[in-house]
Amino acid sequence: MKDYKNVTVFDHPLIHHKIAILRDERTSMKDFRELVEEITTLMTYESLKNGVPTIDVEVKTPLENCTQKMVEDDAVVIVPILRAGLGMVNGVHALFPLAKVGHIGMYRNEETLVPETYYCKLPDGIENKLVIVVDPMLATGGSAIDAIDHLKKIGCKNLKFMGIIAAPEGLSKLAEAHPDVDIYVSTLDRCLNENGYILPGLGDAGDRLFGTK
Ligand code: PRP
Ligand code: URA
Repeated sequence: MKDYKNVTVFDHPLIHHKIAILRDERTSMKDFRELVEEITTLMTYESLKNGVPTIDVEVKTPLENCTQKMVEDDAVVIVPILRAGLGMVNGVHALFPLAKVGHIGMYRNEETLVPETYYCKLPDGIENKLVIVVDPMLATGGSAIDAIDHLKKIGCKNLKFMGIIAAPEGLSKLAEAHPDVDIYVSTLDRCLNENGYILPGLGDAGDRLFGTK
């Protein structure tokens, strides 16, 4: 895969460790859900080290007064792509508890793999916030590209995408479609199979998170 300036693939032993358990077909729904949250929190810490709006506050320590930076209360909006993106929301909330959440519901047509949008509800003022689009699986890239297209259309300018597992096909497509969006993924897998599933992947993330199938 080409080197894209807007793409970061995490290479961290803790993330590798958790992804190994996440991939394992024997991992229970409860453990799967907890791992998705934990990986997301680790990714959020690293992905948002730059670009989060802060304010200066005055603090009185036991010794003297000082000025200290704090994150603006509602600096960030989380936008999960339903369903599987929901599994990442608590992981971001662990670090940004006041972040509002907008939902974009999409499912891939199983034959064409083209995403269809069935739901969209976003908080007022989202266009002026740092918007973090989350979806654990970046396969063909179609869902992430369409979700970000929509957010840009309504005026969002400051967007990041966080995913856990990416296929090279989808990652390249997303990086080229949205070169102004920082993209963070935990791991880059080998390829897609003929049904658009990531190999080796972890199967259907939505089903494993919510116990369907
Ligand atoms: C999965 C996944 C992504 C999408 C990725 O959702 O959660 O949203 O596929 O595929 P793409 O990169 O090829 O668009 P799915 O359509 O299976 O819906 P679900 O989350 O409701 O199971
Ligand atoms: N969606 C998933 O949940 N898994 C894949 O491998 C591809 C898309």
